[in-house]
Amino acid sequence: MADVFVTRELPGDAVGRLALEHTVRVWPGPTPPARAQLLAAVSEVEGLLCLLTERVDAELLEAAPRLRAVANLAVGVDNIDLGECERRGIAVGNTPDVLVEATADLAFGLLLAAARGIPGASADVRAGRWRTWEPRGWLGQAVARQTLGILGPGQIGTAGACRAAGVGRKVIATGREESPEGSRLVMAMGGDARAGATATIRAVPLRALLERSDFVSLHCPLTDATRGLIGRPELAAMRETAILVNTARGEIVEADALRQALVDGAIAGAALDVTDPEPLAPEHPLLEAPNLLVTPHIGSATHQAREAMADLAVENLREALAGRPMPNGV
Ligand code: GLV
Repeated sequence: MADVFVTRELPGDAVGRLALEHTVRVWPGPTPPARAQLLAAVSEVEGLLCLLTERVDAELLEAAPRLRAVANLAVGVDNIDLGECERRGIAVGNTPDVLVEATADLAFGLLLAAARGIPGASADVRAGRWRTWEPRGWLGQAVARQTLGILGPGQIGTAGACRAAGVGRKVIATGREESPEGSRLVMAMGGDARAGATATIRAVPLRALLERSDFVSLHCPLTDATRGLIGRPELAAMRETAILVNTARGEIVEADALRQALVDGAIAGAALDVTDPEPLAPEHPLLEAPNLLVTPHIGSATHQAREAMADLAVENLREALAGRPMPNGV
């Protein structure tokens, strides 16, 4: 029996199963433990089930000398210093696969909502601005038969391509190449979109993707190579009618450059499920930008996906604490 700290209450019964085998303490608050509380909470534990809101770095690992396993309730592991964990022999796991469709659905939903100005139109109804059927009112961008540029055609990006194919869109993509020297942006792997999609993803360099796309959707992980990848020059390369969708990580886009691009009309709009920082305070300057839609990092937020993520995270911990490899080790 090991001591385990879970940094938030999770949906489903996965944590209950964990508690049958281990001594589990769950942080009770609706918001993350403050740093000092987190460091204190991990001081005796062998297992940690954490979220992307917790930074697992050298300081935390130093404060947790007995820690053997970290299960992140996310597919992204940019909140975890993997090198430090490896150096200390601490297993790290994530929750891939089960959130792919939910996140692709949200990206597609954001794209549609931004293209057609759905949130603003809905707000106008409540504000009494719906006077009549207006031939020139609430005009948005067409979605069908437009070009979708996918930056990072991994599982989620490819699932997004399937949705695009369903409305007859052309899909182009830019991806990464991993090598011992690190991660570098290259033309994408390409290939056919999954599950009934009819479109082929064509690989293009990043610059061409930005220039040719009516919609640019970000699906790459946050790494040193992708931090700030979409800045002023990249936004300037996009079409004035283009819409940027980010369901990956906020830090991939330079927030100030995006605000300026929206103010200047360099692009037509942006829909973000992720921001830098998170949460975005209501008074953050980015929120003053026009044609901006922001949701609170809800890509995987379906009952099904979140319960499945909790199951995977708990399985990762149970296996690692039993001395076996994590089923979804990073
Ligand atoms: C959420 O952003 C995740 O990485 O799972």
